Amino acid sequence: MVMTAKGLRARCAWEMSRGPRGFADCSWLHQAFLDVPREHFVPDRVWWPAPGDDGRYALIDRNVRPRAWLKAVYLPGVALITQIDDGTVAPTAPAVGAFTSSISSPGVVVELLRHLAPEPGESVLEVGTGTGYTTALLAHRTGAASVTTMEIDPHLANRARDRLRALGTTPGFIVGDGEEGHADGGPYDRIVSTASVRRIPPAWLRQLKPGGVLVAPLDSPYGHDLLVRLVADGRGGATGTAVARVEFMRVRGQRAPRPYAELGWSGEPGAAAWEDLRVTAGQAGQCITHAVVEHT
Ligand SMILES: C[S@@+](CC[C@H](N)C(=O)[O-])C[C@H]1O[C@@H](n2cnc3c(N)ncnc32)[C@H](O)[C@@H]1O
Repeated sequence: MVMTAKGLRARCAWEMSRGPRGFADCSWLHQAFLDVPREHFVPDRVWWPAPGDDGRYALIDRNVRPRAWLKAVYLPGVALITQIDDGTVAPTAPAVGAFTSSISSPGVVVELLRHLAPEPGESVLEVGTGTGYTTALLAHRTGAASVTTMEIDPHLANRARDRLRALGTTPGFIVGDGEEGHADGGPYDRIVSTASVRRIPPAWLRQLKPGGVLVAPLDSPYGHDLLVRLVADGRGGATGTAVARVEFMRVRGQRAPRPYAELGWSGEPGAAAWEDLRVTAGQAGQCITHAVVEHT
């Protein structure tokens, strides 16, 4: 049976509704997922994210294998790789190298936006536009005029802007370092990053309204990133918890590893579950501790 993009999208939504990374009670997100054509944002040639037997990432070319390409676009747990080594590797053949951009998997995007929980008309800053797909889902919820998106790579930014514009979606677009945020457009009700950080950039905390929400992937000593959700105190700080385990590409300026002790992590990571972490971030740094669990 030949499945259309719409049919595959509906099936993907249905599969996600059954899993832990689903829509939960988030009906606006479910509707946005069904309405936004994910395939519109995916380049014709992408790399599969796991290496083959030869150690290289296979290329999926829409013009050569249109059905395989479309099926891959709608796999709930698969992020397709759109850039390797900052664009120095041409998408013409299987490749090796470091992933530097992707279209995030449907499951992860849904998780991110479910925790962000933007309301219609709320101002949102997105860091890491990538293909523009997450931007389109955000704009579906809040209205494009309420969204500002930042991408450090000019080539990716231009492509995403064109793809969004082709659907009539025109958010604010900044080509630049998202770690600096965009003060001129703030303060924001919500900030979301689709690139992970080792240290939460102080600018994000300054640019949130009091009570504003930050959702971002944070590197952790647990062997994976943690999605953190923090609420701003209006004085340049924010507190919250880790809400999910995720895996993201690092923001460009924070690729180099640093000792966790320098990044505010205290205690042995194995000593407690990541679900029990308490995250406090401010202008002087961050502090990640295990919440005291009260036993009665
Ligand atoms: C995982 S991709 C984003 C995927 C996007 N959510 C999507 O579904 O298309 C992460 C993006 O963050 C961008 N990025 C990395 N460092 C950045 C920075 N400092 N400021 C803005 N964007 C950055 C990368 O170029 C990449 O496109």
